[in-house]
Amino acid sequence: MTEQIEIPDSFPGAGDVTGKRVVLTGAGRGLGQLLAHAFSRAGASVALVARTERDIVAVADALPGPTLVFSGDVSDGAFNESVADGTVAEWGGVDVWISNAGISPIVAGPLETDPSVWRDVLEVNLTGAFLGARSAARVMHQGGRVIFTGSVLGERPRKGLAAYSASKAGLVGMAKGLALDLAPSGITVNVVAPGWFDSPLVEGWKNSAQLSESILGHTAQRRWGSPSDLPGAYLFLASDAAAYVTGTVLNVDGGYLLL
Ligand SMILES: NC(=O)c1ccc[n+]([C@@H]2O[C@H](COP(=O)([O-])OP(=O)(O)OC[C@H]3O[C@@H](n4cnc5c(N)ncnc54)[C@H](OP(=O)(O)O)[C@@H]3O)[C@@H](O)[C@H]2O)c1
Repeated sequence: MTEQIEIPDSFPGAGDVTGKRVVLTGAGRGLGQLLAHAFSRAGASVALVARTERDIVAVADALPGPTLVFSGDVSDGAFNESVADGTVAEWGGVDVWISNAGISPIVAGPLETDPSVWRDVLEVNLTGAFLGARSAARVMHQGGRVIFTGSVLGERPRKGLAAYSASKAGLVGMAKGLALDLAPSGITVNVVAPGWFDSPLVEGWKNSAQLSESILGHTAQRRWGSPSDLPGAYLFLASDAAAYVTGTVLNVDGGYLLL
C-alpha cells in the first residue's frame, strides 16, 4: 500500500500578515505607499522609511493600523541601525524588512553618465538594501523575512539604464547569497521584481507614446501594472505560508519577461 502524505490540521494563510511588524523603505510615494496601505489594511504594523519626512507622515496618517516614521537615507548604515533599534524599542521586534527605496535618476549612455550618478544608484538601490538586510538580521531573533524590490530591468536591461539594471541584477545575487547566510537564523530573503507600474518613477516613460508602446508591446498582457496587481506578491512572501521560499525572484510583470 502507498504511504499517504501527512495532511496538517490547518494551513498558514498565504498573505496573512496579521500582527507582523514590518519595516518598509521608500514608503513616501509610489509603490512603497501602495505597499504601506496593503500591509496596514492586512493587519500589520508598518514602520515607514524615506528621506522626505512630510511624505511618510502623510502616508502614516492615512493608514488604519499602527505606524512609525523614520526619515533618513537608506544608504547610511547608522540610519538603518536606528530604524531597526527604534522599531524594536517601540514594538519589541521586526518580523519583515522590505527594502523598496530606489532611484533611477537619468536615462543616458555610459559616456553621458557621470560616474557619480553610477555610484549614487548603486549606493541607494544595492548598498542601501544590503545595509537594511544587515540591520534586519541583527534584530530578527525568531526568524523573519527580508524582501527586496528588484525590477524586470535587472534581468532584461533597456538602453540608457545600465546603472539601474546593474543595481537590480545585483539584488538578485545578493538575495541568493544572503538567503544562504541567513537560513540558519530562520530568515528568508527574496526579491519581488515588478514590471511596469504606474508611479512617479516611470512617468517619463508613460508620457512618451513611443516608449509606452515599446513597453506595452513587450508585455504579454499589454497593459501597465495596476495598484491591485503588486501587493499580493509581497504579502505572500511576508506570510507564514512562504516559510520555505527563499533565494527566489518573483516577477510581477504581466509577462514582460516572456516576450
Ligand atoms: N514604478 C515601477 O514601475 C517600478 C518597476 C520596477 C521596480 N520599481 C522599483 O520599485 C521601487 C519603488 O519605485 P517607485 O516607482 O515607487 O519610485 P518612487 O515613486 O520614486 O518612490 C521612491 C521612494 O523611495 C524613497 N527613496 C529614494 N531614495 C531614498 C533614499 N536614499 N533613502 C530613503 N528613501 C529613499 C523616496 O522618498 P524620498 O525621495 O523622500 O527619499 C520614495 O518614497 C524602486 O526600488 C524601483 O526601482 C518600480
